Amino acid sequence: MSDITIKIKDREGEIHELQAPTDMGMNLMELCKAYELPVEGTCGGMAMCASCQCYVLSEHQLPEMQDAEEDMLDQAFYVEDNSRLGCQIPITEDLDGLEIELAPESEV
Ligand code: FES
Repeated sequence: MSDITIKIKDREGEIHELQAPTDMGMNLMELCKAYELPVEGTCGGMAMCASCQCYVLSEHQLPEMQDAEEDMLDQAFYVEDNSRLGCQIPITEDLDGLEIELAPESEV
């Protein structure tokens, strides 16, 4: 299976074009960490820290938010309508061309 491309704008406004494997069971938070972008992922992907919050800039159809993600975003800072937790978004072929921006650093 081939890789997909995901564009990530970091907190300095720099855009990183990442190649993401769709066959490794990775999520967006893990992808950012693999490329050493400044995403903490403190809770290890349990939707409990919001350090992986990002804003979705493109029109991709993403998996629906589960309760844990919604609850976490209720408590997080800098939340916008297009906020998602990167760790709750698995990398699949449907995400090819996805564009996201890292939310400002914040932890609850
Ligand atoms: S890594 Fe903690 S909420 Fe995503």
